[in-house]
Amino acid sequence: MVEAWYMDDSSEDQRTPHRLEPNMAVSLEELEKLGVLYWKLDADNYETDPKLAKIREERGYSYVDIIEIHKDTLPNYEEKLKIFYMEHLHLDEEIRYILDGSGYFDVRAKDEKWIRIAMEKGDMITLPAGIYHRFTLDQNNYTKAMRLFVGEPVWTAHNRPADHFDCRKEYLNKIASAVAS
Ligand code: LAC
Ligand code: NI
Repeated sequence: MVEAWYMDDSSEDQRTPHRLEPNMAVSLEELEKLGVLYWKLDADNYETDPKLAKIREERGYSYVDIIEIHKDTLPNYEEKLKIFYMEHLHLDEEIRYILDGSGYFDVRAKDEKWIRIAMEKGDMITLPAGIYHRFTLDQNNYTKAMRLFVGEPVWTAHNRPADHFDCRKEYLNKIASAVAS
């Protein structure tokens, strides 16, 4: 199962785990209240996996491509990694399925603390439109991920502050009511 935890605020290398001591774990339920959904899938058979097909069908994930984040395969590797780790939001869902390797998705909790989600092979996640987040490789320095999208992909990242977007306001309203229910 995917593991998540609240991060410490040390200035150590972003690729290290940054756990608090003692560790403060974050459950899938807590992630769900932030609008973050998670699935465990069979990454060795992603081309024929009926479970993936069903999720794509139900959620309208019509677009897919595959990105390999490694210094030998990703053009402008260092620059891209810096951009990925800048806190940002998108106007659409961000959907990632780890086919190989691993990496960390960090999302902001309601109280603005960073939650680190340790994604490994077979983990699929969706971050809702309007959530502030970032991505980093971990100490394995390799991620192969499927990127999914509803319709024609838009990868534009709006770096924080991006609070004026409607999707940000809608997101905040949504998580406010998720906590009340
Ligand atoms: C993205 C990740 C880095 O926007 O959040 O692709
Ligand atoms: Ni993003």
